[in-house]
Amino acid sequence: MNPQHKYLPFPRIDLPHRTWPNKSITHAPLWCSVDLRDGNQALAVPMTVEQKLKMFDILVACGFKEIEVGFPAASPTEFAFVRKLIEEGRIPEDVTIQVLVQAREELIKTTIASLVGAKNVIMHLYNSTSPAQRRIVFGLEKQDIIAMAVRGTKWVKESVAALQGANVTFQYSPESFSATEVEFALEVCEAVMDVWQPTPEHRMILNLPCTVEVAMPNVYADQIEWFATHMTRRDSAIISVHTHNDRGTGVAATELALLAGADRAEGTLFGNGERTGNLDIVIVALNMYTQGIDPGLEFSNLDAIRDVYEECTGMTVPPRQPYSGELVFTAFSGSHQDAIRKGLQNEGVVWEVPYLIIDPLDIGRTRDGLIRINGQSGKGGIAHMLEHGCGIRLPKDMAREFGAIAGPLIDRLGREATAADLKAMFFNEYVARTDPWKLGEVHFDEGGRECRFKGVVSHRYKGHEISSNGNGPIDAFVCGFNSRCETGVSILDQAEHALGSGADAKAISYVKLQFQDGAIRWGAGVDTSIPLASIRAVLSALNRK
Ligand code: KIV
Ligand code: ZN
Repeated sequence: MNPQHKYLPFPRIDLPHRTWPNKSITHAPLWCSVDLRDGNQALAVPMTVEQKLKMFDILVACGFKEIEVGFPAASPTEFAFVRKLIEEGRIPEDVTIQVLVQAREELIKTTIASLVGAKNVIMHLYNSTSPAQRRIVFGLEKQDIIAMAVRGTKWVKESVAALQGANVTFQYSPESFSATEVEFALEVCEAVMDVWQPTPEHRMILNLPCTVEVAMPNVYADQIEWFATHMTRRDSAIISVHTHNDRGTGVAATELALLAGADRAEGTLFGNGERTGNLDIVIVALNMYTQGIDPGLEFSNLDAIRDVYEECTGMTVPPRQPYSGELVFTAFSGSHQDAIRKGLQNEGVVWEVPYLIIDPLDIGRTRDGLIRINGQSGKGGIAHMLEHGCGIRLPKDMAREFGAIAGPLIDRLGREATAADLKAMFFNEYVARTDPWKLGEVHFDEGGRECRFKGVVSHRYKGHEISSNGNGPIDAFVCGFNSRCETGVSILDQAEHALGSGADAKAISYVKLQFQDGAIRWGAGVDTSIPLASIRAVLSALNRK
């Protein structure tokens, strides 16, 4: 279907000398969490008072100094929650609670009643201003909308006198600002300022919401810069942005709006909110962090915050959600795994691990799950998981050999391979090989520089007694083996390390064997004794020919 008759493009903002494209974000804005209001309004089952308390505490722990705690006139639960916060002294001295209210006198009165006893308060008044809302929803003209905002502001101004001793800040939102003509949005806000009379010492907040994303984020940035540069009394207002995510660009819209002059950003943890959600504040804050800017919010244990959020809201964080999703630090593909592994091995002061914009440790994630294995994974990832999941540290060359063997087996699994799967594949291929060569009774005598080997190896059912000397156990065994069994093998490489720890610890040995015909095989052996593990590794390589 051709959309051109059904949908109209959003008009451009006339701002030829826009400055925001040349700017950078250099410091954190004022943050305001709207989890308990906008986020809560979007839930099929809104949070109970207990759940809201739990969320409030986690928001405080994250470092939010401004928290919109609800819409007290909207329901008894909302009202009760605000009362509980105040009466039980649960609001830290440096935290300001914000409450939302429409421009209706009785609602404003109820809202003020909910706030009695609070120390720091933001009274947030809103009414919708866009042409579609004016025409379709309210059937009102522009002047009626201005009158509504002005009336509401007067009611708030009169009634806040009841909040004696409280620091009250006034916030006004021309709701649906993103879809409103900038000139009209400014006209409404100027009228509101005329009533409230903010000063540079007592600024009011003008919150310019991207209630619905109707255009690209650069258009929102233009709207913000246009507004901030055309308004009178700029020094008496805090310009706040509040973005939703209808086009999937809530984060971009906020970031560009900060370039365009916004001082403050509202949003929620993990982006919960109406429809496609509010701005995910975690993302914008951590985006700043990864540019070396302190966001002033604390997400060093993001999983714990996510757990509380999921418990209280009943929502789940998608696995690909930036920073907080389950899979965002996981690489399945071979080339990515290889680059991450090398990046971590060469870690310096400055973070530059390919494919990872943040050190998972900085947000309380481990590095364990960075590499996970499926049919698309490569030798590097397989070796990484064997090492980190099972303590098996393959020599580089052997990792290449095993990767080629394990790849098709993993592909055949048709699912993600666990560390236990890889260990089983490795043991089947190397350690558990006892045919045709098998080790019988053995004895080593290590004195001085010489090592003496005495023992029996059998080929199928035929035993061979070996008695030989060498400059170490493997050398002694291979010398004797070659002369007794006429194999002509030689050791090209060898390594070993402990497997496990404590009383159950064993040794694992890796041996690279060259045969008389030039063929090369790796072998691996496990035993409580290191020399025996090495002999078993030799037999493993022999058995793999
Ligand atoms: O999205 C919005 O416009 C709002 C306002 C009430 C600020 O949530
Ligand atoms: Zn909103």
